[in-house]
Amino acid sequence: MLVNGRHYRTIWIDERNELCVIDQTVLPHEFRIVRLHTPAEVCRAISSMVVRGAGLIGATAGYGMWLAAAQAPEDRPFTLWMTECAASLIATRPTASNLAWAVERQRNLLASLGPELRKTDAVALLRAEADRIADEDAEFCRSIGQHGGELITAISRRKSGETVHVLTHCNAGWLAFVDYGSALSPVYAAFDAGVDVHVWVDETRPRNQGASLTAWELGRHGVRHDVIADNAGGHLMQHGMVDLVITGADRVTRCGDAANKIGTYLKALAAADNNVPFYVALPSSTFDFSLCDGVRDIPIEERDGEEVRRIRGVNRAGAAEHVLLCPEFSPARNWAFDVTPGRLITGLITERGICAASEEGVLGLYPEHAGRCSA
Ligand code: MRU
Repeated sequence: MLVNGRHYRTIWIDERNELCVIDQTVLPHEFRIVRLHTPAEVCRAISSMVVRGAGLIGATAGYGMWLAAAQAPEDRPFTLWMTECAASLIATRPTASNLAWAVERQRNLLASLGPELRKTDAVALLRAEADRIADEDAEFCRSIGQHGGELITAISRRKSGETVHVLTHCNAGWLAFVDYGSALSPVYAAFDAGVDVHVWVDETRPRNQGASLTAWELGRHGVRHDVIADNAGGHLMQHGMVDLVITGADRVTRCGDAANKIGTYLKALAAADNNVPFYVALPSSTFDFSLCDGVRDIPIEERDGEEVRRIRGVNRAGAAEHVLLCPEFSPARNWAFDVTPGRLITGLITERGICAASEEGVLGLYPEHAGRCSA
């Protein structure tokens, strides 16, 4: 993504060998780069949502394991230290698969090095693996864009080139991954190919990732969009104003149930009632092949109710402010995700192509996981 004339990924190592990320808590009003030096700083950045989005927290955790090895204290057994750091990273956010997946990938690498493991070798190898996780994430998202972009192009043809209206929830764009995004990658691919595409952007309470992040990155790319109140989508669908819905996902079971930002399920219900195609875009690192029933088994993060009670923005003078929305005495509950059953999903857009949101569809695309099913 171009920002101020320079191409950025969302995570990179700079010339001083420092881990850099974009602070997503201050967008869209400020573009601030943050450097993360320790595994504890990486954990804080993930839990406070300085970095967020399934793919990006996975990539960040991969680099977190590199920093953990680089800073392992001399007076602690290395393997024990790495196990503790891995557990702290995984505990930061429970719903997205990519986080535990990336940490496990780093732990498997360490385990493969055997008992003769030298710390300096481990540091170099973990760094190279973290780079590979990040590169793969970007490449998979690029492919998702190719497959999903064809869906948008086909609708455009059917409409004789009239505007295609896509509705999306939360932010599953460039900012949620290392590059391109999942749900927005098809939009960028179609737009870059000359398709007339417009996006309805759900504001996405309580953290407003749609209003603050999706709108910002679509605007930077030149894609026409309108931010809408979270509850507007059903009305737009009833009036033929949405051609398709594409959302991202934080965890998808092998049977096609998809956990995504709270409110996604309601959009899927409205889409089903109005015959609007509802797609979920994800790279393979977001699948949890061990689960089938997502409503029953995907852990749903519950965050601080203060995120519901207060809202952040800038005042007329441009200064950042948090303001209270409800009575001081009213408590709030804050579930961060919900699960959309596969039966409400038209298809899953992956780096390998598009499949049905069913066990047959998912394992048809990923047959190597057919033997690893438990629940
Ligand atoms: O809480 P977040 O902002 O990390 O959650 C991200 C989402 O739920 C997005 O909706 C997205 O689709 C999944 S991340 C690609």
